[in-house]
Amino acid sequence: MPVPPDIPKPSPRPPLRYGPLTLASRYLLSPLAGYTNRPFRRVVREVGGVGLCTTDLVNARGLIAGSEKTVRLTETCPEDSPFAVQIFGSEGWVMRDAAQLLEGRGVHSIDINMGCPVNRVTKSGAGASMMCRTDSTIDLVRTVVEAVKIPVTVKMRLGWDSHQITAPFFAREFEQVGVAAVAIHGRTREQGFKGVVDRTGIRRVVEAVERIPIIGNGDVRTVADAARMLDDTGCHGISIGRGALANPWIFRQLVEWEDTGTYGPPGNFDERLDLLRRQFGYLEALHGDQSAAILFRKQGHWYLKAMQVRAWLRNQFQQATCRAEVDDVLARIAEEGPMSGDRTGVLPELSIPVPSGPVDKW
Ligand SMILES: Cc1cc2nc3c(=O)[nH]c(=O)nc-3n(C[C@H](O)[C@H](O)[C@H](O)COP(=O)(O)O)c2cc1C
Repeated sequence: MPVPPDIPKPSPRPPLRYGPLTLASRYLLSPLAGYTNRPFRRVVREVGGVGLCTTDLVNARGLIAGSEKTVRLTETCPEDSPFAVQIFGSEGWVMRDAAQLLEGRGVHSIDINMGCPVNRVTKSGAGASMMCRTDSTIDLVRTVVEAVKIPVTVKMRLGWDSHQITAPFFAREFEQVGVAAVAIHGRTREQGFKGVVDRTGIRRVVEAVERIPIIGNGDVRTVADAARMLDDTGCHGISIGRGALANPWIFRQLVEWEDTGTYGPPGNFDERLDLLRRQFGYLEALHGDQSAAILFRKQGHWYLKAMQVRAWLRNQFQQATCRAEVDDVLARIAEEGPMSGDRTGVLPELSIPVPSGPVDKW
């Protein structure tokens, strides 16, 4: 096993608290629409190290209307704890009712989405467009905070564009109305996913608040990236999205590093195959094997890429339509091993590409 690079342990920080909720680690799973579903959250938790998992963004209006698809996004299980649901919407009463409904179902924390750049969401006055309105945004957040006893957090970007960096202002205001924590993706809405994360911008948000934790987010894929995020911004926790898709072991590595100054390798080929099988099994238990085979294609692609599976076998996986076909292709994948031939060695780092083009999708 290669020796991990020598990255100094982070300076001691108090445990991460969302109001009365003390999280087991400061490394959190960032919401990724289409990926952070219950089966993925479960396997990430089984690998270990994650402090909190949040759902994909959930339409508050759909939730209170009882839309089956929306409600499904909020379903959880005892192993999926602590658990936050991220809601989006532009009307205070809708967001309030959705938050109360979720509190009644035992959700541990509510996250308000103020970062979504997608036109469909921003045009309705929700997501990142909330960063362009002052009073109504603060009112909406206050309404949600006052409506529930569980901690309410906000996830936002640095601002709408480089001329409107409103995150420090909002973080300060949200602290005043009782928000438990703020997560900052260090890009503007205009940037979408382009360019690099602005850690100085995140630091300004950290400096703007007095007590509440600030969660730094963006481009953290390795322990070295996390060390930079903690050092450069002074943030209290880190949320990781695409890095967790590429390497579900990242949270465990970070906790090991924080505790001991060193950390083990990410999952090897065999371990990833085992994780993939388990995740598929959880998906199948929820949706049946045929739907699971289709639903798992997107995520299966990243697993198999990370495992260095040959393209023809990856294509076969994409064509499997039922449990028997999935088992069959996985058996062939297991037999073939990674392209490097090393089943137990460290696999090359995989970087998940950002959504490209105009900001019309995540
Ligand atoms: C495919 C995809 C889906 C996303 N879905 C959400 C979402 O539902 N809610 C949210 O707040 N952010 C969402 N994001 C943004 C991520 O949570 C995160 O802020 C961003 O990807 C930067 O962090 P990362 O570099 O660790 O991925 C999404 C990002 C991607 C790439």
